Order: sequence, then structure tokens, then C-alpha cells
Amino acid sequence: MKITKAIIPAAGLGTRVLPASKSVPKEMLNIVDKPAIQYIVEEAVAAGITDILIITNRGKGVIEDHFDHSFELEANLKDNPSKQKIYEDVLYPANLANIYYIRQKETKGLAHAILCAEKFIGNEPFAILYGDDVIVSPEGNPVIGQLIKAYEKYGAGCVGVKEVPREDVPKYCSLDITPLEKRIMTVNNIIEKPTPEEIMSCYSILGRVVMPPEIFDCIRNTQPDKKSGEVYFTDSMLKLAAKGMLNAVDFEGTRYDMGNKLGIMKANCEVALNHPEIGEDFKAYLRELASTL
Ligand code: UTP
Repeated sequence: MKITKAIIPAAGLGTRVLPASKSVPKEMLNIVDKPAIQYIVEEAVAAGITDILIITNRGKGVIEDHFDHSFELEANLKDNPSKQKIYEDVLYPANLANIYYIRQKETKGLAHAILCAEKFIGNEPFAILYGDDVIVSPEGNPVIGQLIKAYEKYGAGCVGVKEVPREDVPKYCSLDITPLEKRIMTVNNIIEKPTPEEIMSCYSILGRVVMPPEIFDCIRNTQPDKKSGEVYFTDSMLKLAAKGMLNAVDFEGTRYDMGNKLGIMKANCEVALNHPEIGEDFKAYLRELASTL
């Protein structure tokens, strides 16, 4: 079955980037000239996704405004010959995909947010793109598309992974894996936020997942973590792994965590360096700046 539906959980509190995220959702923080979430929607669309459910909460209405028409702005730009490019840029997000919204009424974690999408998804496999993870990939090879291909080939759930520095693994999760083919592995075990002694490999799940609809039952049957009381999505995915139904794709692409300050700066620098309008000037500026360090 062709995968055409995706969800973007974007209802987190964004405490690591406060106060920037106090009144602007972290998913709407800027990378050069577009909010982070637009890059994510564009990635999904490039992989053939047509219907996207964004999971929001109170205070995230600007996400809806961004993917809607802005009639006053559009009317103002439309008839001005010198502003046609800007007019197209403003219009573009409103026509990208069929975008729907649902509110997660309590911030009870990622697994709970995903459960809010059950009615929208129905009985189909679907993609999940975390709302604060922007991944820049080679032209024509969107990361979620790399996972969709692996899902279609093996008929098993699929997580996007990368090796992270060993000292960072306790912030994410650690995977026990067996190689299957180039860049694809079978997942045997996952430990969320492992202690240094519990680390099984430096592969962690970073922001992209393709799941069968059975994952909703898995979430419902997952016990909350003893220490934090939160139902971890990784524990739910472990139920698929226990049946040999979970693979990992070491994806081709660079991931930027828009949920932390350094991630935001790296994303802005790297996108700016490759930007057709300001790339050359920004490179010259960085060279000059670097010479003073
Ligand atoms: P994070 O754990 O990175 O987001 O969730 P957070 O809770 O906003 O982070 P901090 O620690 O407070 O800074 C990963 C993704 O899941 C969404 C977030 O919006 C983010 O895109 N999420 C998280 C939800 O949709 N609901 C939640 O209850 C938690």
C-alpha cells in the first residue's frame, strides 16, 4: 500500500529553547527565510505524502496561519510586478499539501501525541516526522522517502537512525542492531535515555519513523517508564522489534535539532551557506568573522 499520510507532532513545550519558544512555537523558529516546520512539510511532500496531520496545542495557532492563505498580504503583492517572487513564496505554503490539525490537550509526551492521530490514520502505514527535527538531504532523496522505501521492501516498521557521539547517547536512545543490507539494520532492542553502562551502540533514533497502524495498540499496551512516569514511544516500538518487525535506516542527510540552541544556529549557518540569494555574501562574512577568532 502506498504511504500517503504523515503526522508531525508539534505539541511539545520546547523548554530547551525558552524564552524564544514562549510565544513562537519552536517548530516556527526561522531557518534563514522559512520556519522549521515548512522544511519538514516540504520533505514529506517530496516523498509522495499528500495528507499531513499536525499535532498542536494551545498557542500554536501560528502554524495553521502559516499554511493558510493570507489574503491581505497576497492581494498586496499580487499586482506588484517587482514582488512576484515574494508573492509566490507567500502563496507556496498554502498549496503544499492537504494539512489538518488536531490538538493534544495535555502535554503527555510523544507517544500520547501520536495516539491523537489514530482516527486520521485509520488502518494504513504512515510516516512520522518530528516537528523540531529538520533534516537536509541530497536533492531528490528526502529522508522520509528513504524510510518509506525500506518499509515497502520489508513490510516492517522503520526508524531513521544516525551514530551520535557516545557522550550524547544518554540524551537520546541506544539501539541493538543486526545489519540487513547497506544502511538498513534489524532492530533487536532499544533503551531510552540509557545510562553509559547500558549503551548497546551509538545508533540513536533521530526524528523520522514509518509505522504500521498496529503501533497504536502497541502504544496503548505500553507501561509508563518507572522513573519518569512517561510512556516512551521507543518502548512502544520495542513491541514491534520483539516480533522482528522493526528495521532501522542509517539515513543519508544532516539532521538539525531545532529544540536546542546550538542546533538552531547550525541549521541557520548551513542553510545560509547554500542559499541562492545570500550564500556567497554569508560565506564571505563567515570567513571574515573566522579570521578574527
Ligand atoms: P521533544 O521531547 O523534543 O519536545 O519532542 P519538547 O517536549 O518540546 O522538548 P523540551 O525538552 O521541552 O525542550 C519531540 C517532538 O514531539 C513533540 C514535540 O513538539 C517535538 O516536535 N511532542 C512532544 C508533542 O507533540 N507532544 C508532547 O507531549 C511532547
